[in-house]
Amino acid sequence: MNIQRISVIGAGQMGSGIAQVAAQSGLHVTLVDVDEARVNKGLQTIEKNLGRQVEKGRLTEAQKEEILGRLRPMTDLAAAVVEVDMVIEAVVENKQVKTDLFRQLDEHAPADAILATNTSSLPITEIAAATKRPEKVIGMHFMNPVPVMKLVEVIRGLATSDETFRAVDSLARHMGKTPVEVQDFPGFVSNRVLMPMINEAIYAVYEGVATPEAIDEVMRLGMNHPMGPLTLADFIGLDTCLYIMETLYEGFGDSKYRPCPLLKKYVSAGWLGRKTGRGFYVYE
Ligand code: NAI
Repeated sequence: MNIQRISVIGAGQMGSGIAQVAAQSGLHVTLVDVDEARVNKGLQTIEKNLGRQVEKGRLTEAQKEEILGRLRPMTDLAAAVVEVDMVIEAVVENKQVKTDLFRQLDEHAPADAILATNTSSLPITEIAAATKRPEKVIGMHFMNPVPVMKLVEVIRGLATSDETFRAVDSLARHMGKTPVEVQDFPGFVSNRVLMPMINEAIYAVYEGVATPEAIDEVMRLGMNHPMGPLTLADFIGLDTCLYIMETLYEGFGDSKYRPCPLLKKYVSAGWLGRKTGRGFYVYE
């Protein structure tokens, strides 16, 4: 399958990154969010990132304009997906929101279009079951920041066809990424391994074992991690971290995945990390 026109739904941290990399790899992209302010914010992030690449001499001004020319910001979901070969969904990590959205995508996107989700942890099989084309639904889990990180976890739902898998695998390669095949279990591989570590670091803050700075320093200098778990949690977004822990907890029914009460408290306070200016650290 030759994928040339895609739609990215959700113009937040992940959606804007996915749209940027897709447009840079030559695809035509409609970028969708709920209102103009949000979709324009996503587009501005892309412009800023491309501008930085021009400053570093990696892109010419003309190339930047050409890439931006392949991006179309939109707020009308039905119109945005009507002529695409594939949709990549990157809206908030909430099962109800995603299944409702997939129902709408199924209604408006061409019958042969692939519907991919960038979910961090939600069951692909269940999202697929909300559509009449479960064989064309797949997980395409990019890492943050998308323009920098090489990995894409490609997750097969129970009904995902080999043809869909192959198309997404080659699209990921075309976008300069390295796809890794994973089966559909809560948290897949990346977040099943990563998120309990982050949650445990939050428990260590909660129990007064050490300060966030000290915990991050132990993991950076002691384990050679490029960034401490609490810095990473702020970067991912604490709301997303909480959704993922809840998905692991619900999916496995094992108390080892219980989200730390401090994580819940921060999220209720609106301290979501970098994107809101405050999480375990304060950002200007
Ligand atoms: P974000 O909060 O930055 O962006 C989400 C965007 O989706 C917002 O702009 C919101 O307005 C928009 N949105 C919500 N409902 C919508 C709808 N019905 N239609 C169109 N747009 C809608 O969140 P972020 O971090 O970009 O996460 C998005 C997805 O990517 C989540 O599923 C998350 O689990 C996943 N993800 C996040 C990673 C991270 O490090 N933040 C890494 C990999 C995956």
